[in-house]
Amino acid sequence: MMAERVQAPVSPVPRVMPGPGRSRRRLLVAGASLLAGAIGLVPAAPAAQAPQRIVSVGADMTELVYALGAGERVVATDTTSLWPPQARETRKLGYLRNLSAEGLLSLEPDLLLLSGAAGPESTLRQLEGTGLRIVQAVEDYSLAGARAKIELVGKALGEEARARELVAEFDRDVAVLRETTRSVAHPRGVFLLAAGGGSPQVAGKGTAAQAILDLVGVDNALDHEGYKAISPEALVAARPEVILVMSTAPGGGIEAVAATPGMALTPAGKAGRMLEVDGVALMSFGPRVAKAATQLAGRVRKAATQLAGRVRMPAGAAR
Ligand code: HEM
Repeated sequence: MMAERVQAPVSPVPRVMPGPGRSRRRLLVAGASLLAGAIGLVPAAPAAQAPQRIVSVGADMTELVYALGAGERVVATDTTSLWPPQARETRKLGYLRNLSAEGLLSLEPDLLLLSGAAGPESTLRQLEGTGLRIVQAVEDYSLAGARAKIELVGKALGEEARARELVAEFDRDVAVLRETTRSVAHPRGVFLLAAGGGSPQVAGKGTAAQAILDLVGVDNALDHEGYKAISPEALVAARPEVILVMSTAPGGGIEAVAATPGMALTPAGKAGRMLEVDGVALMSFGPRVAKAATQLAGRVRKAATQLAGRVRMPAGAAR
């Protein structure tokens, strides 16, 4: 049997924002589906039997499996699968962008759920040739994409009814987010990724971080593509009024970022307007993204009130 590899259904408002070097991956994934389609193997129907040995890769996929009541059937996850707390106790297969096939296959899963960011492509191709049932989401950092993932995983698990309830809850969360960010003042900010050690990477266009800035109402002070390390001079010249830092553990990353050269000379650094962002809840665009964005938007708004009169007032912020 050939592996089934399906992507999330096209979202009502498709908004695909691949980072640098990812567009090729996306084409390959699409190509694999087309090829399989040509020989009559897709679209993949839900498994006749509910999966019993699930490997879930990516915070978004894992949260969905638990939220849909299938957490007990998870045999392994990746290192970004840190929520809910039970997911931390599962066997870990390494970082989602750096998977290897051998360890994963030795667990004999009957369903592999992959976040859109999972890779590398060589491992994914290797897995495709094994007969394993693989369901991969599109790498789509938008609310519509997050919603589509609920339906995708619900179908893969045969839990469509629970998925509908979760979608309804998600829609309510989005409505609250929209209300919270309506006419909210937009401070000027930068977003730094501190995970993985090394110098912080500053987010530009086409990233999950940019999508979060858009959702919570912050104007990115930088407009390069993807992520890059920037010089202290460039950071000072960008004049951020708020600095958002993705952390993967409470307290993680922000002190190191605060000590980065140049940081203290920015308006945000001088006034201590540095906000820690819960990377696990927000950055994979899983089921908690709208709730977590509402919280973050509240914190941004509080920081922005200190800047009253100097921030832009747009018509609305959430999309
Ligand atoms: C729980 C831990 C982690 C989380 C939640 C996390 C999350 C993220 C997120 C949100 C992105 C940006 C995705 C995008 O906007 O396209 C990213 C990119 C990346 N991460 Fe992680 N990460 C974690 C740990 C790590 C570790 C330990 C490493 C290193 C071994 C690492 C290496 C990378 C690399 C190389 C990128 C790509 C940056 C680029 O596109 O230029 N991450 N990660």
